Amino acid sequence: MERITVIGAGNVGATCANVIAHKNLASEVVLVDIKEGVAEGKALDIWQTSSINNFDTRVVGCTNDYLRTKGSGVVVITSGVPRKPGMSRDDLIKTNARIIYEVTEKVVKYSPEAIIVVVSNPLDVMTYAAWKAANKPAHKVFGMAGILDTGRYTAFLATALDVSPKDIHALLLGGHGDSMVPLRRYTSVKGIPITELLGKDEIDKIVERTRKGGGELVNLMGTSAWYAPGAAAAQMVESIVDDQKRIFPVCARLNGEYGINDLYIGVPVKLGKNGIEEVIELNLNQKEYNLLHESANQVRALVKVFDNMNVAGSDDRG
Ligand code: NAI
Ligand code: 2OP
Repeated sequence: MERITVIGAGNVGATCANVIAHKNLASEVVLVDIKEGVAEGKALDIWQTSSINNFDTRVVGCTNDYLRTKGSGVVVITSGVPRKPGMSRDDLIKTNARIIYEVTEKVVKYSPEAIIVVVSNPLDVMTYAAWKAANKPAHKVFGMAGILDTGRYTAFLATALDVSPKDIHALLLGGHGDSMVPLRRYTSVKGIPITELLGKDEIDKIVERTRKGGGELVNLMGTSAWYAPGAAAAQMVESIVDDQKRIFPVCARLNGEYGINDLYIGVPVKLGKNGIEEVIELNLNQKEYNLLHESANQVRALVKVFDNMNVAGSDDRG
């Protein structure tokens, strides 16, 4: 791919650009930020690792210059404000919704064909905001959260079982918040169900820690995480750019799947060069179905906050 853009050169955006460059996913990565000099500086710093880390991808930065992003194949949106201690992801909505809407309009103006991966929080509603602003089919606008949440779940399991995280396969559904639904029935170690390896109480604790995984890091660091979020967004970009058709939990717009209509929420999908190429419907039991729908209700409440803000003015998309 010729060009990939990352909007927001903060902790997550710069990390994502760094991983994209390491993986040589494009000829050029463009980092954009609203703060003068930040994207330029971080891009230069990453580019100066090219001979050390052995990559060719040019990394450039700019301040709010969307012309520089022209013709991008994939755009990752990380701009906005991160969560501070005591702040829920939902508190972020008012500030970030306006930023995401505005930024997406500019992205689409210069890269009408781009696939858009949203990272900014609250993730499910920001993805919806970007879709509204982009006026594109939903398979080309989606959000990153499930890979990060599954990464946390997998890391906790690998520690508890003292096995390689590479041998753990896990899935997770729902919104990116404390209502997410790690699926223990779909979690295994080299094919062995975790229910045969860990007791119920231990799995319960890991599921709970996963749900609150973002908050744990905010409390430790005073701001939200970036290494795993940046790497997770880059993994989505890789599956798109290399048409890998990998199966990941992704924030996707549902139209009847899982009994949910017109809502962006995390579900397993196939990611390839066309974006979301398939939404995979699992056979949920009643408990899993109810938990997913509880999570969907929480996301719907946030979507209402966004709709009531009337950021989109009189537009009546979607
Ligand atoms: P950060 O504060 O380090 O970076 C955000 C950057 O966005 C700043 O450099 C800021 O100047 C820039 N920005 C603000 N308004 C902008 C605009 N209009 N145009 C261009 N750039 C603009 O924050 P961090 O840690 O990188 O987090 C970014 C977002 O990602 C936050 O909303 C955070 O909550 C979210 N996040 C989401 C995760 C997920 O799983 N989906 C995981 C981690 C963070
Ligand atoms: C995270 O889960 C805060 O969404 C961010 O780390």
